[in-house]
Amino acid sequence: MGENIRPILAGTKALVVGVANENSIAYGCAKAFRTAGADLAITWLNDKARPHVEPLAKELEASITAPLDVAVPGQLEAVFDLIRTRWGKLDSLVHSIAFAPREDLQGGLLDCSSKGFSVAMDISCHSFIRMAKLAAPLMTDGGTMFAMSYYGANRVVPNYNVMGPVKAALEASCRYLAYELGTKNIRVHAISPGPLKTRAASGLKDFELMLNEAAKKSPLGELVDIMDVGFACAYLATDFSRRITGGTIYVDGGANVVD
Ligand SMILES: NC(=O)c1ccc[n+]([C@@H]2O[C@H](COP(=O)([O-])OP(=O)(O)OC[C@H]3O[C@@H](n4cnc5c(N)ncnc54)[C@H](O)[C@@H]3O)[C@@H](O)[C@H]2O)c1
Repeated sequence: MGENIRPILAGTKALVVGVANENSIAYGCAKAFRTAGADLAITWLNDKARPHVEPLAKELEASITAPLDVAVPGQLEAVFDLIRTRWGKLDSLVHSIAFAPREDLQGGLLDCSSKGFSVAMDISCHSFIRMAKLAAPLMTDGGTMFAMSYYGANRVVPNYNVMGPVKAALEASCRYLAYELGTKNIRVHAISPGPLKTRAASGLKDFELMLNEAAKKSPLGELVDIMDVGFACAYLATDFSRRITGGTIYVDGGANVVD
């Protein structure tokens, strides 16, 4: 898929946060947005990540690149300053980041420390609220915001542990942000992809079992790939979806409707 996509997002500007490598969901989103004609801003976590992300940003002709660790005070503001200076506006924002300390992620929820819970919530959820606050004034023609969730937000998925409550908060945040930003014609979506083999997923215990289960459950009989997620977001960024906001959009081959 991709060769026959018309440049329906030409002239639009998209910030994509969360590219770590070519397996990242964020990379699929960036590639789909670029294929549809959008100009990109792409960030990397730190100096260690930069050599992996910079070539991908180059391949996608990103016009803005910058470091961004949402836990470092001032870095998020610096990215938005750059966007304001270079572009003067923003149309789409993709938040595709999550983190929980390994010891808190790999134990059950009962054993999650207060510190681990706060860090997971701050990096994986509140950072989206901070981004939305900075992005909204730049979305002068309206816009769309995306945050990556997972089925474990609503149903218990063994081994998803602390990320379940964190993603539930993220989906609720999307609803409230959609409510607060709707009159500015800014739409907010939680995207819930089926399991994908990425660096973040490798931190989950027995992730292979989740993959097998997802393939078995999906009415379409297949796992999703990062371009499936990217093109779903690209569609939601167009006027074709202009009355869709606030909800959780599953990109999982329909697995969520099957028990
Ligand atoms: N892989 C899956 O099966 C799956 C399924 C559903 C949802 N998701 C969600 O998709 C999103 C992207 O994850 P992925 O699977 O593409 O893995 P990934 O490892 O490729 O991406 C995770 C990203 O989070 C970034 N990150 C972590 N801490 C950060 C910080 N402090 N500041 C800025 N960035 C930070 C990393 O640098 C990385 O780019 C996450 O929210 C994840 O929970 C993943």
